[in-house]
This record gives sequence, C-alpha cells and structure tokens, in this order.
Amino acid sequence: MSNRQTVVYRKDYKAPNHDVETINLVFDLIPDRTIVTSTMHVVPREGRESDEFELNGESLQLVSIKINGQPSLTNQYAMNAGKLIFHSIKEPTDIEIVTRINPKANLELSGLYLSNNNFITQCEAEGFRRITYFPDRPDVLAKYTVTLHAPKECKVLLSNGNLVDQGVLPDGRKYAIWHDPFPKPSYLFALVAGNFTVNEDKIELNNDKTALLQIYTEPGNENKTVHAMDCLKKAIRWDEVRYGLTLDLERFMIVATNDFNMGAMENKGLNIFNAKYVLADDRVATDSDYAAIESVIGHEYFHNWTGDRVTCRDWFQLSLKEGLTVFREQEFASDMLGSESAKVVKRIKDVRALRTAQFPEDSGPMAHPIRPDSYSEINNFYTMTVYEKGAEVVRMYQTMFGKEGFKKGLAEYLRRYDGSAATCDDFRTAMAEANDADLSQFALWYSQAGTPRVSVKTQWDESKKTFTITTRQSNRTLPGQPKPQPLMIPLAVGVLNDKGEDIPLQLEGEPLPVGTTRVLLLNQDVQTWTLVNVDRRPLLSLGRGFSAPVIFDMDLTRDQLVFLAKNDSDLFNRAEAFEKLSILAIDAFIQELRKTQNANSLSPMEAYLATFEEILNDERLSPAYRAEILKLPSE
Ligand code: SER
Ligand code: ZN
Repeated sequence: MSNRQTVVYRKDYKAPNHDVETINLVFDLIPDRTIVTSTMHVVPREGRESDEFELNGESLQLVSIKINGQPSLTNQYAMNAGKLIFHSIKEPTDIEIVTRINPKANLELSGLYLSNNNFITQCEAEGFRRITYFPDRPDVLAKYTVTLHAPKECKVLLSNGNLVDQGVLPDGRKYAIWHDPFPKPSYLFALVAGNFTVNEDKIELNNDKTALLQIYTEPGNENKTVHAMDCLKKAIRWDEVRYGLTLDLERFMIVATNDFNMGAMENKGLNIFNAKYVLADDRVATDSDYAAIESVIGHEYFHNWTGDRVTCRDWFQLSLKEGLTVFREQEFASDMLGSESAKVVKRIKDVRALRTAQFPEDSGPMAHPIRPDSYSEINNFYTMTVYEKGAEVVRMYQTMFGKEGFKKGLAEYLRRYDGSAATCDDFRTAMAEANDADLSQFALWYSQAGTPRVSVKTQWDESKKTFTITTRQSNRTLPGQPKPQPLMIPLAVGVLNDKGEDIPLQLEGEPLPVGTTRVLLLNQDVQTWTLVNVDRRPLLSLGRGFSAPVIFDMDLTRDQLVFLAKNDSDLFNRAEAFEKLSILAIDAFIQELRKTQNANSLSPMEAYLATFEEILNDERLSPAYRAEILKLPSE
C-alpha cells in the first residue's frame, strides 16, 4: 500500500483546471519493462483557478515528455510529491508522456500486474497513476484509444470499448487497437493480455442491434461459465425492461482471474472478476454460489449506467455509484426469484446481512456516513456502510415514490449527468424534482452516521374507533460528530384486524381510506398519526419490507407475534415476527432447562412449535420462503 498519509477533505474539492478530451495509449507489453506511451489532448477549462496542469504518478519511470510534438524543456514542468505539474497550459495542447513500468514486480494488484503470466489491470480507486502520469481523479473524463503490442504467444489482447483492428506486427508480435466511444474516468480503464479461452454468445438488444457477449477464463474452465453467461443475458434484459437502459457497446466482455483484490470491477465494456464470481462447476456449486455469481455479474453490468455513463465527482461520492448499484443488483436478484414469497427471501437475506455487518459498523468506532467527509486512504472506504446502507438509502426513494416514481427519478438523473461526474446531492435533487418532492431533510442520510432507532406505541380507542400511532426516533450522538438531527424516515405500515385481515388505512382528515400499506413520512423526534374507522381490535405491522435502515422497536406480546407470524400480508414482517417468536422460544427453552420443575412454563415452546407447523404446511408459500423463515436466528 502507498504510504501517503495526508488527509483529504470533501469540503476542499476543487474542479480540475484542465480537461483531457482524448487519450491515446500504446502499450509495449513486456512483463518486467512495459513501455507506455500516452498522448493526451489537454484543454484548459473556462473559469479555471490557474494554468497548472497536475498529473498523478506512482512507481513510474519517466522516459520522455513532448509538448505539441516537441521535446519538453525541464522548466516547463516540475515533479513534486508524486505529482507531475505542467506550469502553464493556456491553450489546447497535445502532451506525450512515455513511462516504463514493471508489471511483474507489481504485487499490490493495483495498476498493471501479472496474474498467472497474464497481464491484468485494476485501476479503482487510484491505480491508473501506476500505469502512466494522468489526472487520476474521477471528474476528468476522456475518450480512450488503446493499442496493445504483445509477444506472439499472447492469445488474447483486450481493452475497453470496441475492437478497431488487430493483427501481427512486422516483427512477429501481435497487436490490437481498441476504441471506447464514451468518455470515462481513468479508474474505469482496463487491459487484459494473455492466454484465455472464451465462451461467447450474442444478444439482440431492444434497439435492434446485436451485441457480442464474451466470458474469458483461463484454459480448462470452458464448461464453468454457462451460468455466468446466462446471468449476463438476464442482467442485460432486466435493465432494458425495468429501467429502459440498453447496452451501449458492440460487445461486452468479462474476464475471470485468480489474483484480484476486489470481488469484481466494472471497467467500461471489460469487467474483470475474481474467478469465484464467474466459475461454477455443476458438480459442486451450491445454490449460494449460483446466487453470488448472479448478483455480482448483475452488479458490474448495472454499473455500465450507474457508475460508467454517470460517474462520481470525487471519491467521497462513492456511494452514489455503489449504493445505487447494490440496490439495482438486489432488485434484479429479487425479480429473478419467481413467486412473491420467494422474492422476499432475497430481502430477508439482505436485511440480515445489513444487521449483522453494517449495524455494528455504524455503532462502533468506525462509524461513518455513507458519504464520508474525509479520508486518508480511500481504499479503506469500500465499506458495508457505503455499499449496503447506501443501497438502503437509495431504496427509501423507491419506498417514498414507488417503482414508477423511482424510475422517473433515475431517468432524470441519467439525463442530466450522462457523460459526466455527479454527486450524491445531484442524485437526490434529480429524484426530488422528478417527483415534485422536498428532499432537503433527506440529505441528512448522507451526512449523519449511526443507526437510528424508531420506537412505536399504539393505542386503540374502541368507542371512537381511532387507532393512534406514536413514533419516536432517536439518533445516538457519535464521538466527534455534531448532535444528530431527526431524519426523514419512510415508515411503511399496515394494520391487521382481529381476523388477520389488512384494513383500509384512513388518516384523520382524509375523506377516504388510501390502500392497506402506507408510508408515513417521519421528520421529527416525536409524531402522532391517527387512523379512523378502526372498528375491530387492530394490530400494527411496522416497517413493512424493512422500509428504512433503522432499528424498529415496538413491544409485542407473544400472542401478537404469533398472530403476525401467521397472518401478516407483508411477508417480510411475517418472517420478522416469526424470528422474534423463535428468540422468545429459545429464551424460554433455556429457562425451562434451568427450572424443569415448572410444568406450566412449556407454553412458549408450544407456541413456537405450533406456528412452525402452520407455516411449514402453508402450501401458498414457496418452499424457499418457508425454508428461510423457519431457520433459527443466528447469534
Ligand atoms: N467498483 C467495484 C464494485 O463494487 C469495487 O469492488 O463493483
Ligand atoms: Zn460496485
């Protein structure tokens, strides 16, 4: 890892002085001395702070620099703390920089390195500066043309975008030229060169074009990419159908490698994967292996629009692409699951993961907002909070505006920022304006760390037929953070009557009921909501579908839990009730073991077993759903 220790602050963001409109890269690939020739067309920005053009570089050997075709003079630039700074670029200028790098010695797996003698890259977050000098920041978007020269044994030569040309050089080496028509930040650059086999297929897109799909793996894995290819096709189709988003390249490639720091990487048109998220061997792969492959293939593919077409202005905005793409991946995986109750299994698992891995992050010394304010090492911010809580924050927009409203907001965001770099605030504003809503208070979800607690009390007035719901939200003050403010929290609720039916929900002052599940928008510490025409004994179903990343807190008796576990039309909450019942049963069981002489205390266990049996035999529920919710709670 690099030993830069400087702290970077979000508030210090400054736009770059220059754009790089195009970059032409030529690689002479040799394991221990690769030569990289980069030619950039650099254009000063209007209203820039200065004429200094600043490039990052790390572990590079500088060979030569030319400015507009002329060897540069040493007084035209300076090297300062790992940065190459041209003092004065006032006009559009072509800058050629030749560097030498040693992929074989690169053991950080960041930049260009060797995996099993194949050349592979990983550039997110700051790996491109280990390939050549470049303004290695996500708000500098350039169009890339890449030429690869490689030894003749090298079977496959890949980079981003579309293949322009390939062949054999006069000296017998191979070459390939790639052009990516979409401007992209340097972290999305990729190249792969080596010995791979390919599984390929075609897909008809909704714009009547045909795209080539390729999955490259090390030889011997030919038969293990069938599932991955199927997942890729499903993901492409799903993004078309659900969001109207089409694959924008002639081909889409996935490469699997055994040496990879992350799960996978969404480089434009050339995703690179840790092999475990691509390869599935029919004889030994489990359901969860297949599901993980589907999710990760979906995730990286969905980044093509949410990450690549619109990227992040700076790394503080990481959740802009990751939270949104995790949410899209979750929706995709859920939509692939068939029946309603099978889909809920995905939600149950995602919420369980959030509670077991993100809630502790949010309550411990590492608590940070989904959009951090400072970092000293960005690689440490690829966290459960940025990814998974970030996805929950994105999901809340859908909970507030519905699937159609969310789709409108996403389309507006992509329309506004296509081909550029945006912020979390830009996303929130696009959502708000597309849905005619005021989301200024919602901004706190991006800046405030910690898991809020929402405690709820209810009261039924039988004579007035009113049912009052009182909510209290509390947010813990974290060390070094300002006193927390109340958040805007969408609280999805339903009400069951004593026959177990959902009742129509009519708030005081409303002429008619509006549906049976409603989203109450919390925005103060304490709030009260009164439902009218509640003529039979009601029971609240709280936080349906886990409508916000909070701790829901309501006292429920054992009988009420039994009732919800049997009757709640919200299948997520049914699982929640049953889980609580399981915990009570286990508690009781432990107590029974301690004092076996009290025969009357057997009832919790009986309640548990009877409900267990009822759910087990409910043929209307999918087997997957039943299997999932009847599991005992984890520690
Ligand atoms: N950008 C990568 C991803 O999340 C890093 O893991 O897909
Ligand atoms: Zn991602």
